[in-house]
Amino acid sequence: GDVGAGEQVFNANCAACHAGGQNVIMPEKTLEKAALEQYLAGGRNEKAVMTQVTNGKNAMPAFGGRLSEDDIANVASYVIATSEAGWD
Ligand code: HEM
Repeated sequence: GDVGAGEQVFNANCAACHAGGQNVIMPEKTLEKAALEQYLAGGRNEKAVMTQVTNGKNAMPAFGGRLSEDDIANVASYVIATSEAGWD
């Protein structure tokens, strides 16, 4: 996916709960590399992020009906790339 386009999707749809790669609702479930490796179902990879974004999980809403497949692929690329680079 396109990381730059994914950043736009993130800022518009995810940053309310995940600004700076954090998590305002479940503080341990951040988007940092170690947390994704520990908690994300399916592991720290783009497909696993796409699945969670499409379907939601607990207090995280499902975006499958609100974002296109391309938007979801792009935001997943942005999350994985930024978890690798560091959010700050
Ligand atoms: C968890 C991505 C929007 C609330 C996660 C995780 C990812 C993620 C990858 C797994 C983190 C981990 O397990 O360490 C995204 C993306 C979003 C988005 C890319 C936008 C498309 C939101 C929004 C909210 C939210 C808007 C709040 C209304 C949560 C919560 C969890 C979570 C509560 C923990 C779920 C659980 O395991 O019970 N998010 N998120 N997310 N997100 Fe989001």
